[in-house]
This record gives sequence, structure tokens and C-alpha cells, in this order.
Amino acid sequence: MGSSWVPWVVALLVTVVRLDSSMTQGRDAPEDFVIQAKADCYFTNGTENVQFVVRFIFNLEEYARFDSNLGMFVALTELGQPDAELWNNRPDILARSRASVDALCRHNYKLGAPFTVGRKVQPEVTVYPERIPALQHHNLLLCSVTGFYPGDIKITWFRNGQEQREGVMSTGLIRNGDWTFQTMVMLAMTPELGEVYTCLVDHPSLLSPVSVEWRAQSEYPWRKMLSGIAAFLVGLVFLLVGIVIHTRARKGPKRSSSSTATLRS
Ligand SMILES: *[C@@H]1O[C@H](CO)[C@@H](O)[C@H](O)[C@H]1NC(C)=O
Repeated sequence: MGSSWVPWVVALLVTVVRLDSSMTQGRDAPEDFVIQAKADCYFTNGTENVQFVVRFIFNLEEYARFDSNLGMFVALTELGQPDAELWNNRPDILARSRASVDALCRHNYKLGAPFTVGRKVQPEVTVYPERIPALQHHNLLLCSVTGFYPGDIKITWFRNGQEQREGVMSTGLIRNGDWTFQTMVMLAMTPELGEVYTCLVDHPSLLSPVSVEWRAQSEYPWRKMLSGIAAFLVGLVFLLVGIVIHTRARKGPKRSSSSTATLRS
């Protein structure tokens, strides 16, 4: 994966270290020092506009760099002047550095883009009230949107099909740090019977926006359900008792009629 640039950076560093040790000999330089080369690719609008920069750092000081926009090495401090001059006079080093915009940056972009720039993960959307909802009581409807990538997302609240702008609050975009995002958008509301609240989510990973509804139902629907079940059970008991009485009544007269028959004979 674009490892062709490693040898020449190493070659540069070896040159650098040799130069520095020859330069620093006889000077009061620290015995321990760190020399780093950092190569960066900057992409604007995909691979339309690419800048390749290599920074050369002595301890904490960047003293020289290659900038593909300039097409040459530049010294940033006095220490970098001999190096920049030396490398700019080496056609092979210059050519390779200039070619890195394509050979390293654009090449690596193609390899990495599918799972970075092109990464798309669909959000999970759930809608729930903050407290047990009661009609005509102030409440907060939460639209929780989790696990999506990239971070650009549009979340809209609707009440009976009407977009709601007032009473809308958001946690803002939360970066989970694992290449996923989450957010929560809340709507302050006072539910009225039959109202339909909708959280509409649009995201680049979705072919069409996802909408999740919440309906304002009559208070304590479970209580109504329980009383319905109780009424059904009472009805069932009456029915069974009725059936038992009916069958007994049908069996009973037969026995008594036969007994009357014996009485008569
Ligand atoms: C980005 O690049 C495309 C070509 O790939 C070009 O058509 C478009 O105008 C560029 N956009 C910007 C904002 O420069």
C-alpha cells in the first residue's frame, strides 16, 4: 500500500542524520535528539485537488518541508537551509517527491475511500415519551437516532403532518468515537386524543427518509384493556353457568319422567 515512498523518506532521514551529526559535532547540541519525517496528503473535493507535504522535524521544531504545491523543498529555519538546498539539487528526490501526489496520495485514497469517505451506516430511529403519557399533560417526545455514519443528518418533527419548529431541542451531534454518531431531538408537546406525531430522519445512507410515528391514545390504555378482559371473563363465566344449567335441565326432566312412568304403572 504505497510503501514505495518509505525508502526515500528513510534515505532522506539517513542523509539528514549524517548531515546533522556532522553539523552538530563540536557544537553544544544535546546528546539525545529526535528527527522525524511526517508525510501528509490533503484532499479537497475527492482527488480533484491533492497536496502532498513532508515535514522534517528536529526535536519539536519543523525545519524543512516538501510542499507539492510549490514543487520543491523549503527551509523553515536556519537548520533546514543546507538540507533544502541539497534535496532541491537532487533531480531524483525532487521527481519522486512530486510524483507522490499520484503514486502515494491518489493511490492510497482509492484504497481507503470505500471504508472511510464512502462509509455509510443507516441510523436506528426510536420514538418514545419522556414520561408515561397522559392526555392534556405536558410531556416531551424523544426521537433517538443512533449508530449512523457519516454525521450529516436531518431530523424533523411533525404533528398531524405539520412540521414543528417550536419546542424542538437537540443534544446536537454526538461522536461515539467508533465511526458512528448519535443524536436525540426532543419535542415539547401536550398530547390530545388522536394526534399523530412523526419523527422524520433523512441521511445519506437511506434511499428515502425514515419516519417513526407516535400516537396520542386515551389515558391508561392498559386499564381499559384490563376492564375489557374482566368483562369478557365475567361473560364467559355466565355463559358456562348457563350451559351447565341448561344441560342439567335437559337431563333432569328425563329422569323424573321415567320415575313418574314407574309410579303410574
Ligand atoms: C469537484 O470536482 C468535480 C469533478 O470531479 C467538479 O465537477 C466539481 O465542480 C468540483 N467541485 C468543487 C466544489 O470544486
